[in-house]
Order: sequence, then C-alpha cells, then structure tokens
Amino acid sequence: MIKIAVLVSGSGSNLQALIDANLSGQIVGVISNKPEAYALQRAENAGIATAVIEHKQYPHREAFDDVMHQQLLDWDVDLVVLAGFMRILSEKFVSAWEGKMINIHPSLLPHYKGMHTHQRVLNTGDQLHGCTVHYVTAELDAGQALAQGVLQVGSHDGVNSLAQRVHTLEHIIYPQVVEWICTQTIQHTDQGVLYRDTLMHEPIQFCKF
Ligand code: GRF
Repeated sequence: MIKIAVLVSGSGSNLQALIDANLSGQIVGVISNKPEAYALQRAENAGIATAVIEHKQYPHREAFDDVMHQQLLDWDVDLVVLAGFMRILSEKFVSAWEGKMINIHPSLLPHYKGMHTHQRVLNTGDQLHGCTVHYVTAELDAGQALAQGVLQVGSHDGVNSLAQRVHTLEHIIYPQVVEWICTQTIQHTDQGVLYRDTLMHEPIQFCKF
C-alpha cells in the first residue's frame, strides 16, 4: 500500500477530501509549517500522525526542507501531496521527490501561475476557470499537469464565489488523481507520465458547466 504524506499550511479542506475518499493508499502523516493550521486538527480527528515544522525556526530554506525531508523518510513516504502548502520548496528537496510529489493549483495551468488566480481570471474576463493537479518540478506551478477541473465563469461570479466553486472541483479531482497514483493508473516513468499504460500528453479534464 502506498504511503502518503500531505503538506499543509491552512484550512485543509483538500486534506479532508483525501481523508474522506478512503483511498487505496494510506495517509501516514501530515506536515504543517504553521502550528495554527486547522488542517492539523482534521488530521488528528482522523487519527493521522502530524508534525509541525515551522519555517521561521530555520536560518534558510534548505535547512527547513532538510527537516521535512527527514520526516518524510521517517514515515517511509512514497507520495507527497501538497494541499495548500504555502512555501516554495528548494531545488534539492524538489529533485529528491521528483515524480513522487504533486500539487493542486487554483487555475487552468499553464494560465495564472502564482497567487490571486481568481482575481486575475476576473480581470481578464475569461469564460473558463478551474484547478489543476500537477507534478511538482523546480519551476513554480510548471510540472506536468495530470488533471483539471473546469468551470464556466458566470456573470455574477466574484472572487469569493469562484474560490468556492474551484474548491468544490478540487475536492473531486485531487482524491481521484491520488487514487489513480495509488492504483498505478497514473505512473511516473523515465519515458514520461503514463495513464492506463499510455503516454499522457494532456491532463484528464473534469468539466462542470
Ligand atoms: C486550494 O485552493 C489549492 O488550490 C491551493 O491552496 C488551497 C488550499 O485549500 N493550493 P485547503 O487548505 O485545502 O482548503
């Protein structure tokens, strides 16, 4: 059974969706860089081990990442799932977990990397928006996309409604992708990413119109 660690900084609604999904893999631990993150409470309620590793207590990014890396090794983790983890990771950490670490981002990547995605979508007047699950590489929000949840931006949508609607999609696609990895439906190989044994060129799309 695949052992999963989830890295969080905030509310942890995606963590909750992963817990509730009864995955084929086991969530063996949750790491937060913030002691006040509600995600820690969710993990404890589900009987999952937690570790608080506060970035502020380390002199530089690599020192913080080394402690996280060691915790992941101690838990014997196979897959690292970033779920609202608000720290940029060092190249050394990312390359140690390359092909074994995924993230969810609230936009249709490659559009709107970085922050404030809902506002930027509204500013541009896009008709489509959503979220993307992707492998993590050294370049921010740029690793291969595995799945996207797509929604239509309504004329009455604002930042809050978009955030809420995108979250709802995240809670569907993130557990699905993690389950696909647990069951080897998605595989990261030297030849590329495989979905059902075939090279994957485009993310799987889930549409909600
Ligand atoms: C989500 O919007 C996700 O796309 C982004 O961080 C947020 C985490 O939300 N990476 P939650 O903590 O899972 O509720």
